[in-house]
Amino acid sequence: MTRWYDSTDHMEDRAAALSRQYTTEELRALRALREDFDPEDRFTDLVREYLSPDDVVVDIGTGTGEWLLAEVYPRVRMALGLDYSARRLWLAAQRKAGLSANAEFLLADARHIPLRDNVASAIINRRGPWTEDEDFMREGLRILAPGGLALEITIGDQNAREFDQAFGARTQMHSWRTRDRLKEMTALYEEHALEVLVAESHLSTEVFPSRDALVYRLQTAPGVEAFDPQTDASPIDRVVADHSVAEGIRLTVHRICLVARITR
Ligand SMILES: C[S@@+](CC[C@H](N)C(=O)[O-])C[C@H]1O[C@@H](n2cnc3c(N)ncnc32)[C@H](O)[C@@H]1O
Repeated sequence: MTRWYDSTDHMEDRAAALSRQYTTEELRALRALREDFDPEDRFTDLVREYLSPDDVVVDIGTGTGEWLLAEVYPRVRMALGLDYSARRLWLAAQRKAGLSANAEFLLADARHIPLRDNVASAIINRRGPWTEDEDFMREGLRILAPGGLALEITIGDQNAREFDQAFGARTQMHSWRTRDRLKEMTALYEEHALEVLVAESHLSTEVFPSRDALVYRLQTAPGVEAFDPQTDASPIDRVVADHSVAEGIRLTVHRICLVARITR
């Protein structure tokens, strides 16, 4: 029997299927640990600083809604998350059960958001698709009210650069290495009448406790095009050999945080 939340085939769905093969304990052992500073925490601080209790917030590509419900929902008038992965939204809907109507989740493609113009006083893009292309941007800005805020954390040009030598152009960020994402993102915002209030680039590191943990990451998140644990055994071994430290395998984490106000 196909259940409705099994009806899509997104990377997130395949990742969920793979994760079911492990126990909670095993999954914990596969988790990478952020060393010292986590740029995601900095973004949450910015969101806390810039949102106010009257805000109506739309989170584009909200995923399982965990962060939205924990960090945004308690601070604003209305928190609405949208995502095109039915499985993730189903998890979000379960999390929301029992909360007030001030949290909502929508199953929608972020290129066609089923909301009226100017409905949001703030939009959030936490590694979601909003700035991926012009269609996404136009749609996000359509629902943003005049004077509203856009808050984003996105992947930086140096993220996981340790994959480059082993995987070459199959590394999804390979072509970014010589670019300056912070500068590009700032320019993109300005082209769309967004006055940039905050633009920060944060470099950090994370450590994978084992080779299996690194493989699991590549199977469950974008990183290397058409990754296959068997056929890619030797490039993986190379990453392990070149980037091992006492605690495990260390990779670069690079994030860009932006806060901007629409000037129209
Ligand atoms: C990297 S995840 C981030 C999830 C969440 N914002 C978080 O921080 O945990 C990107 C999310 O964007 C969603 N997404 C990607 N493309 C989308 C689209 N065209 N429309 C709606 N959601 C999309 C994915 O399903 C996924 O949940």
